[in-house]
This record gives sequence, structure tokens and C-alpha cells, in this order.
Amino acid sequence: MKVRKFVPKDLKRVFEIENMSFDQSYGISMFQQLYEMGIGFLVAEKNDYVIGYVMFWVKYENQGHIISIAVDKNYRRQGAGTELLIRAISILSMLPIDAIYPGYYEGGEGAIIMYLPVERGKIANK
Ligand SMILES: CC(C)(COP(=O)(O)OP(=O)(O)OC[C@H]1O[C@@H](n2cnc3c(N)ncnc32)[C@H](O)[C@@H]1OP(=O)(O)O)[C@@H](O)C(=O)NCCC(=O)NCCS
Repeated sequence: MKVRKFVPKDLKRVFEIENMSFDQSYGISMFQQLYEMGIGFLVAEKNDYVIGYVMFWVKYENQGHIISIAVDKNYRRQGAGTELLIRAISILSMLPIDAIYPGYYEGGEGAIIMYLPVERGKIANK
């Protein structure tokens, strides 16, 4: 399994994974727009097949946000989610931010909101 930067040819496959993973979808054009805005966007690949993705950015200048993370149902519990999150956190934590938050959903879908305090490249002791 390898993690690499998203490229536009991954769009359809990422959208497929999002659709099977969430009740509410950002919509394919939103993915395209977020990518064009320059958000952090990584995919996990197994044998050249995209099996998961993570999108992240910096909000309010000092908060790292995991916008969305999902792994294809058929490839879960094999460590792809962990690998994607580790890579996103390591990129975000190099920026001058205080903490990293995963996103949450509008509507009925349940969510656990988490945050990880960071200090320039490492997890902070808060
Ligand atoms: C959350 C998600 C990305 C995890 O992806 P994954 O590739 O299965 O994650 P990993 O294999 O790295 O799992 C890491 C650990 O998380 C925990 N975990 C993952 N899925 C779990 C589940 N359904 N129930 C309980 N624990 C779970 C386990 O501790 C697991 O370690 P283990 O397999 O050694 O027990 C995936 O389940 C998913 O796409 N869910 C739907 C979308 C979603 O909820 N995204 C998060 C909010 S944006």
C-alpha cells in the first residue's frame, strides 16, 4: 500500500469511495473545486488501485482540519485509514497551527469530534 498526492484522474474513484462511505456527499464538483483551491489531498493505493483518500486544510489560520477521510468498504481494517491520517497529520503539524480537528457532519449522521494539539512538527503535551 502506498500514499501519494491526489491527481485529477483519481476524481471518479475518490467520489465512488465517498459515496459508499457517507450518507451525505460533497458532490464531485466540490472535490474538484477543493483540489483547485489547493487543499491537502492524498490517496492510498493498493496495486495501483485507489482504495482511500484524505482531504485536509488549515482553517482560521491556526486550526488544521481533516475535511474528509474514507476507505473503500472492501479494503477497510488493513491500515489504510491510519496511514492516510498519519500522513495528513505529519504535513499539518509542520505548519504553524495549534491543533488538528476532524470534520463533522450536518444532518443526522453521528460523528465523534476529535482534536489533536500540535506544536511545530510534534504532538503537543496539552
Ligand atoms: C474510518 C475509516 C476511514 C477507517 O479506515 P480503515 O482503513 O478501516 O482504518 P484502519 O484499518 O487504519 O483502522 C485503524 C483502527 O481503527 C479502528 N477501527 C477502524 N474501523 C473500525 C470499526 N468499524 N469499528 C471499530 N474500530 C474500528 C480499529 O482500532 C483499527 O485497528 P485494528 O484494525 O487493528 O483493530 C473507514 O472506516 C471509513 O472510511 N469509514 C467511513 C467514513 C468515515 O466515517 N470517515 C471518518 C470521518 S470523516
